[in-house]
Amino acid sequence: MKSIFFRKWKARYLLMVVLIPFMLAINGCGRDFNVDLSNESVESSDIRDESLIVVGVSQLGSESVWRTANTASLQRAFSKENGYFMIFDNARQKQENQMKAIRSFISQNVDYIVFSPIMEEGWDSVLQEAKDAGIPVILMDRKVKVSDTSLYTAWVGSDFKEEGVKAGKWLEKFLESKGRLEDEVRIVVLQGTEGASSVLGRTEGFNEILRKHENWKVLECVNAEYTTAKAMEEMKRMLKKHERIDVVVSQNDDMTFGAVDAIRQEGLTPGIDGDIVLISFDAVKAALQMVQDGVIGVDVECNPDLGGYVQAIIEAIENGEPYEKHTYVEERSFTKEMVGQYIEDRIY
Ligand code: AHR
Repeated sequence: MKSIFFRKWKARYLLMVVLIPFMLAINGCGRDFNVDLSNESVESSDIRDESLIVVGVSQLGSESVWRTANTASLQRAFSKENGYFMIFDNARQKQENQMKAIRSFISQNVDYIVFSPIMEEGWDSVLQEAKDAGIPVILMDRKVKVSDTSLYTAWVGSDFKEEGVKAGKWLEKFLESKGRLEDEVRIVVLQGTEGASSVLGRTEGFNEILRKHENWKVLECVNAEYTTAKAMEEMKRMLKKHERIDVVVSQNDDMTFGAVDAIRQEGLTPGIDGDIVLISFDAVKAALQMVQDGVIGVDVECNPDLGGYVQAIIEAIENGEPYEKHTYVEERSFTKEMVGQYIEDRIY
């Protein structure tokens, strides 16, 4: 926690070294200041108010609908109205860019660093630098694997392993309802970014259930980078290679959209009453619609609305109050029977 005087000095410093070059650059390009934060490295909030808490946010990319919703949640939390000055950086799926952003936040002497680590490994040095500079680091969404957990202040996100378990348990129930519990079940898995907590956790959780069923055969487990385009390409390839696929476990909705298109292009029907059953994660609005239509069997929710949780931790620190080191957010699963009541209110 730093003094108001220090913040005033810093806000002026930030104005000079960060915002002026940025404004010159966008003027030169004839662009609007009101840019999309999911794709740019910019600052938000009003620099005229010098008592704002300065938060450097390193977002790992803009690969999915979920990620865009997560960025929007941070923007809502770290607004001027809430007393914040947010410096935002989009790392475009590169760990080295996240490290650069964090080092830049350290050199700008921000009050807090918030980031979603693209993968778990490799963060010890940069987090040590933040700790040495006395800047609290709050992780959100994914986790880091570090030798010393005092290198970060707190983490907020999903229980990814539990998400995987939920997916496996749904498949058990579904097969039972169809009288297919004893049949051979041929599964392919579309995974997201290698080394990401969400991939490691969902895989571990699903495999826990998979191991109980000798008749469940994983034909392939491929990295489709959490994107629609890559998933479509991989799904097409696998449909050509394997004579029969019964189930696709797709580790996010964006990949599911690509898989559904690929299945249809092969002349097959995706869905609980079709040729290939789909299990998805995230539960964005467009996917929930597909659950209602029976195209996706189950969508296991991953909650992107983390901004408020991170803000609450910062406020606790500012007020010298206690806070949890690790916070798991609430999540549910959606199936055809109950999804209808949730679709309209989904904002992402
Ligand atoms: O880490 C969370 C995952 O990252 C979401 O499931 C996915 O959509 C995102 O890109």
